[in-house]
Amino acid sequence: MAEKSIFGTLADGTKIDLYKITNKNGAYVTLQTLGAGIQSLYMPDRNGKLSDVVLGFDNPQDYTNPDLGYQGLVVGRWANRIRDAKFTFNGKQYTTPMNQGQWTLHSGGRFSFTAWEVDEEGDDFVTFKRFSPDGEDGFGGNFTMWVKYTLTDDNVLRVEYTVLSDEDTVANPTNHAYFNLSGNPDETVEGHYLQINADYFTETDDDQLTTGELGELKGTMMDFSSLHKIGDKIDEPFRAIIDGIGYDNNYCLRSKDFTLQQAAILEHRESGRKMEVYTDLPGIQLYCGGWLSKDYTAGKENGAVKYRRGAALETQFYPDSLHHADCFPVKFVKAGEPFKTVTEFRFFAE
Ligand code: BGC
Repeated sequence: MAEKSIFGTLADGTKIDLYKITNKNGAYVTLQTLGAGIQSLYMPDRNGKLSDVVLGFDNPQDYTNPDLGYQGLVVGRWANRIRDAKFTFNGKQYTTPMNQGQWTLHSGGRFSFTAWEVDEEGDDFVTFKRFSPDGEDGFGGNFTMWVKYTLTDDNVLRVEYTVLSDEDTVANPTNHAYFNLSGNPDETVEGHYLQINADYFTETDDDQLTTGELGELKGTMMDFSSLHKIGDKIDEPFRAIIDGIGYDNNYCLRSKDFTLQQAAILEHRESGRKMEVYTDLPGIQLYCGGWLSKDYTAGKENGAVKYRRGAALETQFYPDSLHHADCFPVKFVKAGEPFKTVTEFRFFAE
């Protein structure tokens, strides 16, 4: 069984638990019931030294502050942005929370900022579950989401999402971990090497809302088709980047047939830690924490959670596919049929 402990209590009195899974190498992940989140993830460097490779906090309440970036939390029902906080699906209009500007971000955050139940657990896995009634935050269908995390003996953290609804509906789950493979959150991620297996990105307007157009990456500062440092061009002006923020964009992965593919590689060469991201979803959001405050915010064991200290690699359907289902690759949830998607974070020490 995973090792259970008490994480803490939210301001409203909700108790949050932690579940720790350790593999035969001693690498481990701690998962929290809040937002079915990854609270810590200890992976070895090339000398076998374990360090925590995700940002986060020592107190569960801090995770519920949307300005602190959804650290390690699951996002549902629909990740990223929805233009005008409404959409039409199967001829019916749905209105979602307008929690940023004139749009919806991360569906208002309810899936991330509430406690999930633990449905099942074993030596190497924990499955979290959350029920969302028809109409919650404007979405249709009595909807249940399960998130199963498995930590394998070869240092793979597998995240399997399953959704079941009594009505046809939409789902775009992701996990919002910020990786810093140095294990030192005081180091920016600009020195990490990154590759993303994409030739196109989704073009966005001034509000970072997708327009339906795809832009070619080749020759732009956004091109990560070969491994290079995140910091190399992060501040180069580009139409899809907000000055000073840096990368916060969706990349269109090469395969669009909903089968597991390698999406990205992240490397921290000083420690030898490397992570490969695999997903069966067609998109990945690269977000380098550019909206996090430049001021110190106390994170775990006093490491900072701040500007550019972690790289989020959020596997997803392209943002706002709800308005572009005619041209973006997307699948919807069919009544009574389990809808599944999987993402793997595979770790290596080189
Ligand atoms: C968004 C960012 C946002 C972050 C935290 C990312 O998915 O693209 O703009 O700041 O989530 O909410």
